[in-house]
Amino acid sequence: MSDVIALARRFPAGFLFGTATAAYQIEGGHDADRKGPSIWDTFCRRPGAISTGETGDVACDHYHRWRDDVALMKELGLTAYRMSISWPRVIPQGTGRSNEAGLAFYDRLVDALLENEIRPFVTLYHWDLPQTLQDRGGWSAPETVAAFGRYADVVARRLGDRVRDWMTLNEPEVSAFAGHYVGVHAPGTKDFPTAVLASHHLLLAHRAGAAAVRSASPGARVGIALNLSPCDPASESPADAEAATRMDGFLNRWFLDPLFGRGYPKDMVELYGTHFRRAAELEGYDGKLDFLGVNHYTRHIVRASATDPRRAESLTPDGLERTAIGWEVRPASFRELLARLHRDYAPEHIFVTENGAAYDDVLVDDRVDDPARVSYLERYFDAAAWALADGVPLRGYFIWTLMDNFEWAHGTSKRFGIVHTDYRTQRRRVKASGEWYRRLIAAHREARTTAAAK
Ligand code: FCB
Repeated sequence: MSDVIALARRFPAGFLFGTATAAYQIEGGHDADRKGPSIWDTFCRRPGAISTGETGDVACDHYHRWRDDVALMKELGLTAYRMSISWPRVIPQGTGRSNEAGLAFYDRLVDALLENEIRPFVTLYHWDLPQTLQDRGGWSAPETVAAFGRYADVVARRLGDRVRDWMTLNEPEVSAFAGHYVGVHAPGTKDFPTAVLASHHLLLAHRAGAAAVRSASPGARVGIALNLSPCDPASESPADAEAATRMDGFLNRWFLDPLFGRGYPKDMVELYGTHFRRAAELEGYDGKLDFLGVNHYTRHIVRASATDPRRAESLTPDGLERTAIGWEVRPASFRELLARLHRDYAPEHIFVTENGAAYDDVLVDDRVDDPARVSYLERYFDAAAWALADGVPLRGYFIWTLMDNFEWAHGTSKRFGIVHTDYRTQRRRVKASGEWYRRLIAAHREARTTAAAK
């Protein structure tokens, strides 16, 4: 207990403690109230795409249980909540007519959060592209950029009088490359040039979306959530060191450099040369970020590859501590990443928009004791507190995730929640890690109130 108090005291007044979720992973209601299909609705129906054969048709049924879920957040003491909007729920065909029922759902949810003093952080795109847009080329078509701008306008007009904090996109690298190169995410394409083009359109979509939000809602703060990781060479060989630089270019700099007004990194434009001839379209580009959202789970250990178009590949050596999804647990990399972002890019504000861990939780006597996740969180929050001490302008931390949910290609087999979801009954049970978070937040509140009274 005293550990939690000591940890809480290292976070400044006003620091936000939240959890993050995504529409497709929790909402269900896949065809409720005139929602259109998304690329994930389609992808899940492709044989073999989801390891468990499941779909997100029902997921956590949050679309119907949102009131209870907000009550749960309140019970945990959350001061912020990162959620995403389902584009095809709001504009079923991707462009054209908007769907009042879909907008009304988010309207009520935002009101409920605010009534409970939970600050909403809204992500406009967490991977569920309307299928109709995919049929016209999806992220490989420039029309999708314009459609995203119009969608952002519709949502910001509706929610922008109450929502201040926005993220245009979640992890454009994953949308582009897991979706179009590796093919393990929707739409399941496997073509490197298409993936690079998709990443370019996603960056342009960020700009269109951010501009739309700002004009519909003056005073809005607009950021983006990027998946970022240090890339360490697998050996001391110069070839692996160069490969690690390329992997860093692929994963981190390809997005960070343009967003911070520096254009695409030259080494990567050269590397992608034959695959990508549109770099000039980024002339004058600036992401104008009010804050940078950092999703961080693991570092990459990289060696040179002769076959991959990036001429680099990530390894998973034995003997390292890993979570149940195989990602390495290494809080030192998290601290290092935050320090590097501060040093190299100097965003005014940083939020950890996702961090958390999957473990094979078991429900025993109505309880989930998850000491591994508690230990993970203790160590990552400790690293974040060190980052603050290093001078990193970290303003808040969103644990991935509120409750176990539909983990994309892994279906419900990977549990990341601090609340357990029983998919048979939809009962939620706060895990030991959820109790830990509740104590941390309460201790922070207590420490700050006492300090203010002095
Ligand atoms: C991130 C995603 C999020 C979730 C976590 C585990 O890449 O943004 O939706 O799947 O990983």
